[in-house]
Amino acid sequence: MIEAGIIGTGSYLPDVVVTNQDMSGIVETSDEWITSRTGISERRLSSGEPTWFMGLVAARKAIAAAGVEPIDIDLILATTVTPDYYFPSLSCIIQAEIGADNAIAFDVNAACSGFVFAMDVAGRYLMTGAAKNVLIVSAECLSKLTDYTDRATCVLFGDGAGAVVVSTGGGRILGSHLRSEGKSGGSLVSRALPIQHPFLDGTGRNPGGWGSAFPERFPDAVDKFIRMDGTEVYKFAVRAVTDSIQVVAKEAGVEVARIDHFVLHQANFRILEAVSRRLGVPMDRFAVHIGEMGNASSASIPICLDNMIQDGRLKPGDSVMMSGFGAGLTYGAMLVTF
Ligand code: ACO
Repeated sequence: MIEAGIIGTGSYLPDVVVTNQDMSGIVETSDEWITSRTGISERRLSSGEPTWFMGLVAARKAIAAAGVEPIDIDLILATTVTPDYYFPSLSCIIQAEIGADNAIAFDVNAACSGFVFAMDVAGRYLMTGAAKNVLIVSAECLSKLTDYTDRATCVLFGDGAGAVVVSTGGGRILGSHLRSEGKSGGSLVSRALPIQHPFLDGTGRNPGGWGSAFPERFPDAVDKFIRMDGTEVYKFAVRAVTDSIQVVAKEAGVEVARIDHFVLHQANFRILEAVSRRLGVPMDRFAVHIGEMGNASSASIPICLDNMIQDGRLKPGDSVMMSGFGAGLTYGAMLVTF
């Protein structure tokens, strides 16, 4: 157990609302297909605001809610799969914008699991006394990586940001369990820039994919767009999230049935339902925001937390099981009290 918790939250969603009806105007799909398969009715897309700006607005709100001064923040962790720059890191941009001159700032890359991974890192800094106030900013602009001619993926994703301040001045971290399964990573990919320089003669070694560990799943993909084996990811998500929640609850000595809220990565309503069935916990304890925001990758959990605090669902003393899963493949869960 770590004597530290979330003392402030903030979020940002862009103004552009894209409905399922709008999607059916650009690809062959329907509101009925999208809603019944995913639970998504609409998603928010950037109207041009960059990832760092979304993260900055969320960060400022979280800092104000926490009542800390930027100068008292020791560590900034940012998570994103859609940065505006390869470098500097998103966390360094946020540091500069808020004037947190005393903070160490670096990014954590665990795709959609990023927020839970960053919470785990924060907990360890707080536990050792290396930090007292940690700002986590999860900001995503997935529309940058979405192929709007591919109906199997383009209906799923949205943009937005969430942020929290984690501090020794509040709540508790009761347990955490992270896992990575790199060997299954090929089922969810987005490719970075290809090698291009004046001395390239085509004779170099190109093992393809990740080399010999497993066969490349999307060998023809040469662009940046998200490629996903939806069925594989679905099965992985249900198994991984259920397992990690059970491990954390057991290690923390807390009955799953007694946890107040389950705030899972918002990728698909059916995944939330399947986890709820497997755990034997009613759906009314699960945060469900996928319908109005789509899948905003690592930002989805802190956006949910902020919504729940704003509308009074989440109160001081409540226990919250968070769980993320995504590319890597990565997954994890963390149990906290507010
Ligand atoms: N509209 C209409 N039809 C569609 C659409 C669409 N938008 N997309 C796919 N279809 C069609 C397919 O072409 C296929 O047609 P066919 O049978 O004629 O070939 C049919 O619908 C069924 O396709 P499936 O992929 O089998 O559909 P499924 O029921 O598995 O649902 C989905 C797909 C929603 C992607 C599901 O597999 C899923 O949610 N997987 C998990 C995805 C996920 O969690 N991603 C999160 C990780 S990524 C991240 O968070 C960044």
